[in-house]
Amino acid sequence: MDVPLLQVEDLTVEFTTAGGRLPAVREVSFQLRAGEVLGLVGESGSGKSVTSLAILRLLPVQARICGEIHFSGRDLLRAGEQEMRSVRGARISMIFQEPMTALNPVMRVGDQVAEAVLAHNRVASRQSPVTSKNEAWRRAVEALRDVQIADAARRARDYPHQLSGGMRQRVMIAMAMVNRPELLIADEPTTALDVTIQAQILELLGELQQSYGLAMLLISHDLAVVSQVAHRVAVMYAGSIVEIGAASQVFQNAAHPYTRGLLQAVPRLATDRARPLRTIEGTVPAMAALPAGCAFEPRCGIRIEECARAFPPLVEVEPGHWARCPVASRQSPVASTAN
Ligand SMILES: Nc1ncnc2c1ncn2[C@@H]1O[C@H](COP(=O)(O)OP(=O)(O)OP(=O)(O)O)[C@@H](O)[C@H]1O
Ligand SMILES: [Mg+2]
Repeated sequence: MDVPLLQVEDLTVEFTTAGGRLPAVREVSFQLRAGEVLGLVGESGSGKSVTSLAILRLLPVQARICGEIHFSGRDLLRAGEQEMRSVRGARISMIFQEPMTALNPVMRVGDQVAEAVLAHNRVASRQSPVTSKNEAWRRAVEALRDVQIADAARRARDYPHQLSGGMRQRVMIAMAMVNRPELLIADEPTTALDVTIQAQILELLGELQQSYGLAMLLISHDLAVVSQVAHRVAVMYAGSIVEIGAASQVFQNAAHPYTRGLLQAVPRLATDRARPLRTIEGTVPAMAALPAGCAFEPRCGIRIEECARAFPPLVEVEPGHWARCPVASRQSPVASTAN
C-alpha cells in the first residue's frame, strides 16, 4: 500500500490556561493521500482550527501537543524550526479563517503574492539561486491568472480595498498556490462570502485541486460546503473525530448519532415545508468539564450504560467507515432518514 501524504496519529492538544489544563483536541487520527480531499466538519469550538494549526506547528506556546504528524514520511512534531519553514507555505500551505484580515491593506496584492515566492526562495536559497523581484512578480501575476482573476496583470497593482470579497479570497488562494504545494489546508474558505460567491470559490478550489493533483484538508462547519468537494469526511465533536469515512458513507449511511443529527438539521429546498427541521437537543459540553465517557452521551438518543463509563474508541462499521460509538458499531449502519 502506498504511504499517505499526511498521517495524523493520536493528536492531542491541551492549552494551559489560568483555570488549568483545557483539552482542545483529543486522539485525532486521519490520513490524507496525494490528490485527495478530506472534509473536516464540526461546530464552533470542536477543534478544527487547532488540528490544522498543529499540522503546521503554528499553535501558541501554551499549547501542549502529543501524538505524531507524518508528512511525506517525516514527523513534523519532531522536525526542527528550519525544516518547518521549508514546509510552511511551500509544501503545505494554508488559507486562514479570516481572509479579509490576512491581507496587508497597504501593499499591492501582486506584491503580497510575490512576497510569498520570495519568502519561500529565501528559505530554499541554499539549494537554488535567489529568484529576482521581476521573476517573483511574473509568477504572482501567473498565480492570479490561475485563480481566474480577469486582467490579472492590472489587478495585481490593486490594493486589497479595491477588490471585492470574492476577489480578495482568490488572492489568498493565489498566495497559497503560488509555490505549488502538495497539501492545501483551507480553514472555512467560504464562510465570510455570500452564497453565489461561495459556490464560485468552491468550484475554483475543486478545479485547482484536480488540475494540480493537490491534496486538500477542507475545514467547514457547513456540511453542504464539504459535500461539494470532499472525497472523504471526518466529523468532529468536542475535540475528537466521532465519524470518518468516504463522503458517500458518511452522508448516506451516517453511523454516529451526532452525524445523523447534523444531517437532519440541514435545511433543503426540496424538504416538505410542513416538516419542522430537527435540532439536536442539549448543548455541547464545556471543554473544561468533559464527561468521562462519550462527549455526546448526555445528548444521545441511543445511549447505553457503557457510554458514560469510558471514552469510546473508533470502530470500523463498514470497510473504510469508522464511528466512535459502541452502539453504532454493533449494528450495521441504517440509511439515514435525512437522505
Ligand atoms: N490559544 C488558545 N488558548 C486556549 N484555548 C484555545 C486557544 N485556541 C483555541 N482554544 C480552544 O480550543 C478549542 C477548539 O478551538 P478551535 O479554534 O479549533 O475550534 P474550531 O472547530 O475551529 O471552531 P470555529 O468553527 O469556531 O472556528 C476551543 O474550546 C477553543 O476555545
Ligand atoms: Mg476554526
